[in-house]
Amino acid sequence: MKFARRLDQVPPYLFAELERKIETMRADGIDVISLGIGDPDLPTPDAVIEEMRRQVGRPETHQYPSNRGLSAFREAVAGFYADRFGAEVDAETEVMPVLGGKEGVAHIALACLEPGDVCLSPDPGYPPYTSGPVFAGADIQYLPLLEENGFAPDFGALPDETAARASVLFLNYPNNPTGAVAPDGLFDRAVSFARQHDLLVVHDASYTELAFDGYDPPSFLATPGAKEVGVEIFSLSKGWNMTGWRIAAIAGNAEVVERYRHLKTNLDSGMFDALQLAAVTALTEERGFPRQMSEVYRRRRDLMIEALAAIGLPAAPPRATPYIWLRVPDGYDAAAFTQLVLEQAAVVVSPGPSFGASGEGFVRMSLTVPDERLEDAARRIESSLRVEAGA
Ligand SMILES: Cc1ncc(COP(=O)(O)O)c(C=O)c1O
Repeated sequence: MKFARRLDQVPPYLFAELERKIETMRADGIDVISLGIGDPDLPTPDAVIEEMRRQVGRPETHQYPSNRGLSAFREAVAGFYADRFGAEVDAETEVMPVLGGKEGVAHIALACLEPGDVCLSPDPGYPPYTSGPVFAGADIQYLPLLEENGFAPDFGALPDETAARASVLFLNYPNNPTGAVAPDGLFDRAVSFARQHDLLVVHDASYTELAFDGYDPPSFLATPGAKEVGVEIFSLSKGWNMTGWRIAAIAGNAEVVERYRHLKTNLDSGMFDALQLAAVTALTEERGFPRQMSEVYRRRRDLMIEALAAIGLPAAPPRATPYIWLRVPDGYDAAAFTQLVLEQAAVVVSPGPSFGASGEGFVRMSLTVPDERLEDAARRIESSLRVEAGA
């Protein structure tokens, strides 16, 4: 049997590998604590579930949806953007539903990149910023996110000829995997850079709703000029505990949204109407829910940061996202530390380099497990380090 070579150009999806490893260990009776995957452990808000039940009971929702999305959904997104972010998007022409942020990232690459184009992708970064452009036949220029730059890309460091060939720039703040928030002025610099080089900015806003200590992550679309050069992908997955539901929106530049719809009408048949209507409940009645979730993650963040500091692993507390980006102890690289905690502590963490070469020296820990499991994970990591040190 013959397979397309493009599949060999991307590694097997990181989390698929991790899931397999966890399954094998669990099948052997080992109590594995997985901090490897950012999948919220708590349920979707009751009102959203109730609305889904009601909508599924209405036969009108059972037919093919349209790729444009229901006007109720588009208006709910536009209303949320206006009230939450102070960003204006036209529900008619500047918003449409996508089947999760992952679909949005992968397909925007297919809609906007050609073979020979350059895609600027953050390193470390969410893996589809690599696979999307690869499947589109584009070349990728990684933008290192370095700690000394607040994990923001340095556009000035990019050679002029590379910038000239670039068609798409992916940004993602609050950031996965580093937990960093957008430094002041970054979005303005991105707009200028995009204008200068005539490229599209795709801002991945998957984590804007999970933030702590009074910080309110902005939308890229609230930046002056952003809609001329960009779109944003806004997902309900993390803020409303809806990862299994597969619902997000793409919003911003009307021409890009239209091209995206053109692509999608040839690929899929849109999103289940009942799901769009349940999402309306999330974006209207349940707007406060992500704040409650943020409080849960803030508590877990503090607990984990304290436990890590107590065992000699200091980490900066993130101001957003359910992730801790931890520098591995001296004497280890990311892979060795990941292996140590997996084998000696049965704790799964994600090695930094699986998000890109600049992730070396770090691991990502996800706070999407109950508090007592986090405490247990910290204790187990401590004893595995003690055993390793021969104490
Ligand atoms: C940066 C980033 N973007 C997008 C996604 C995808 O989210 P979903 O497809 O569930 O909306 C994730 C999920 O972990 C993510 O970390």
